Amino acid sequence: MAAPVQPLAKRSALRRPAWSALASHYKNVSKLHLRQLFAEDAKRGERMRVEAVGFYFDYSKNCITDETLRLLLQLAEESDLRARIDAMFRGEKINVTEKRAVLHVALRAPRGASILVDGKNVVPEVHAVLDKMADFSEKLRSGAWKGHTGKSIRNVLNIGIGGSDLGPVMAYEALRHYSQRALTFGFISNVDGTDFAEATRDLDPAETLFIVSSKTFTTLETMTNARSARAWSLAGLGGDERSVAKHFVAVSTNAAEVTAFGIDPANMFEFWDWVGGRYSMDSAIGLSTLVAIGPQNFQALLDGFHQMDEHFRTTPFEVNLPVLMGLLAVWYNNFFGAQTVAVLPYDQYLKRFPAYLQQLTMESNGKHVTLEGKPVPYDTGPVYWGEPGTNGQHSFYQLIHQGTRLIPCDFIAFAKPLNPLGRHHDMLVANVFAQTEALAFGKTREQVKAEGTPDWLVPHRVFEGNRPSNTILAERLTPDTLGKLVALYEHSVFTQGALWNIDSFDQWGVELGKVLAQRIIPELENNGEPVLSHDSSTNALIRRYRRLRQSQ
Ligand code: F6P
Repeated sequence: MAAPVQPLAKRSALRRPAWSALASHYKNVSKLHLRQLFAEDAKRGERMRVEAVGFYFDYSKNCITDETLRLLLQLAEESDLRARIDAMFRGEKINVTEKRAVLHVALRAPRGASILVDGKNVVPEVHAVLDKMADFSEKLRSGAWKGHTGKSIRNVLNIGIGGSDLGPVMAYEALRHYSQRALTFGFISNVDGTDFAEATRDLDPAETLFIVSSKTFTTLETMTNARSARAWSLAGLGGDERSVAKHFVAVSTNAAEVTAFGIDPANMFEFWDWVGGRYSMDSAIGLSTLVAIGPQNFQALLDGFHQMDEHFRTTPFEVNLPVLMGLLAVWYNNFFGAQTVAVLPYDQYLKRFPAYLQQLTMESNGKHVTLEGKPVPYDTGPVYWGEPGTNGQHSFYQLIHQGTRLIPCDFIAFAKPLNPLGRHHDMLVANVFAQTEALAFGKTREQVKAEGTPDWLVPHRVFEGNRPSNTILAERLTPDTLGKLVALYEHSVFTQGALWNIDSFDQWGVELGKVLAQRIIPELENNGEPVLSHDSSTNALIRRYRRLRQSQ
């Protein structure tokens, strides 16, 4: 398959020698085929793999040679990746536009470690909050926490959006096997009232506790849902305001707003401005996760994160999993012009993992200017997407195999199933290996003809192959493995952002829509005929909505 050619200006813009070298090197590599690369090196599949922190990472089915790797590693050096990693772990304010440290790694630092923010060790605070979360979870899990009427809590509903929702949902689904089944967990995020209505419709307010999760405690969707939850809860509990203390807890950095909402500050679980929303699932934002899986499992999750952090911080780049993944992502994004990456977990419990990764990757690296505020003369973050296997195979894999676009894929699989059932697991994993093999090697015209295919049908049945993939294989999906997996992607995102010289930790791009919505809400709710001063399309849509809404 001919890879799309990028405009020369885009490639040459970066003045780093390795970047230009990679641009010329790409011309050679684009003529190679994985069939040839494997044929010429019988050990390629064993050489191009890294085994670390419990992962077997096979990157041999990528369109790369040893020279590609050498140049990508050189690019990492020329981009000061090492210094940037050290700056993050030292608590420097690497989120330059918000003047904040970026220290999600401190959330999983062991008790006794020291990580400084503005000269203060934050690790003791992290553990104080973890202890408070563990204490709270034990009360809920044992039934000791009573609601307003004296009944134990059976339903826990997390209200939050973005990083205050996607991580908790993903982790709950991923670790459901380890969860306390006597408790029911739900997640309300969308400002669409349907989300709230469906999540609460079968629940008894006397047995329901809400966790209002919001870093800022000002987010429109979350505060609207939280107010509806308060009204629903009060209506079901006789309107007694004292019930709020028994049925609402908050996770936030904003104690003033939490108190103003009416939640007892004693029931607030704190985190800090040096934790980005999309990097917060292992902070107090993970309270619902901790309640679901219990303190020991949550600690195992944190240990997994920490092991990957240490691997990222200390391992030479050529055997550093997040660095290799990040470099390969840049290779396809900037030299092959690939616009997307598919993440394909072959584990039903990871069904929300691609959705979680979308915020992590795209809110982080969807940036159009450099750290210095200059327009980036090259493409930054690709679109991440995916579905769990094998479902995707019967849907969009056709395009990955035979479409005209190059889509690098990450396959994720586990050797041991959590729900052994006959031959299911071997069948599942056979599909992972089969897909990566088919993508890489395809099926030639000669092979298709040799099967007796009529000439007219041959082109339709040819698979060009040469389609790249990574395979991440681990023993079993455990809390510890999940922590490692999430940290793997977090640090891969960091690596990519460092190479693109962008701020991976701000998200100004979400602001404009929020501001405009605040202006439009009163125009929709206005009982009179509001004066509209948007563009003609927006004005017409508002008028039509108002008319349709009023019609019988
Ligand atoms: O979408 C923008 C954003 O700020 C995300 O970065 C964040 O995860 C989400 O909104 C929710 O914010 P908060 O936790 O403050 O409610």
